[in-house]
Amino acid sequence: MNSLSVKHLLGIKYLTRDDIELIFATADEFKEVLSRKIKKVPSLRDTTVVNLFFENSTRTRISFELAEKRLSADIINFSSSASSVKKGETLIDTVRNILSMKVDMIVMRHPAPGAPVFLSRHVEASIINAGDGTNEHPTQALLDAFSIREKLGAVEGKKVAIIGDIRHSRVALSNILLLKKMNAEVMVVGPPTLIPNYIESLGVRVEYDVAAALRWCDAANLLRIQLERQEIQYFPSMREYSLYFGINKKLLDDLDKEILIMHPGPINRGVEVTSEVADSKHSIILDQVENGVAVRMAVLYLLSGNRMN
Ligand code: CP
Repeated sequence: MNSLSVKHLLGIKYLTRDDIELIFATADEFKEVLSRKIKKVPSLRDTTVVNLFFENSTRTRISFELAEKRLSADIINFSSSASSVKKGETLIDTVRNILSMKVDMIVMRHPAPGAPVFLSRHVEASIINAGDGTNEHPTQALLDAFSIREKLGAVEGKKVAIIGDIRHSRVALSNILLLKKMNAEVMVVGPPTLIPNYIESLGVRVEYDVAAALRWCDAANLLRIQLERQEIQYFPSMREYSLYFGINKKLLDDLDKEILIMHPGPINRGVEVTSEVADSKHSIILDQVENGVAVRMAVLYLLSGNRMN
């Protein structure tokens, strides 16, 4: 198999296990390209990509732009704050105007869950979801699992604890869906108010004791508390959250094994993780960021192939 079963990357929920394995195998090849002196290939030379960001981003936006440049694509960067969206233009009108200038692919981040799916029903171009509200962040989950595979040799059979604000996190949902498709074991950990009731229907364990979760897992993926998406107060204070769910050196020293510490970023140092742990040998946070470029190159390359077929 050398093509994806989908035209768009709207969410992990639409991918098959074969799709995920193809993305990983392709990312392996691009990671090798990125280790060369000349890091550029002509694969997307005749392709124009628009990076359409309606929400803030550091890692995802830069990573996609770099991936596109490494693939020799032509790039347009769109930021909603400097656009005619501020004058009342709709999402569909904005995108149709951009596409009329012969744009082939859209990378989109939007605060509304489902915005990329909605758009995919109205335009011809391939759409890559770069995070839609509290719904999905598929390329983050792909790069997270790719990093686990790189460090632990496989994803299948590995135990991954996702710790933090599960309720508001698109990273949590995409990670759960991907890890389950790859036959990993998944545990979610956090204050009961930040773990939605439906979560066990996704086949994950729930744990409220962070020390027990660390004893169980091979990798701990720590998530930021998403205050900007919280309409009410879900726990008494950040200090209390950090006391009960923050990862510190003592928790890791008490283990009789090594585990991977992961974080999609941005980190709130001293809240979900101490600086000592975030910067320690256990942490693969910057490896995740590095792998994001190869994984996004793979997604762009594979979807551009589907577009041309
Ligand atoms: N991990 C992630 O999505 O980071 P950004 O919000 O900076 O893109």
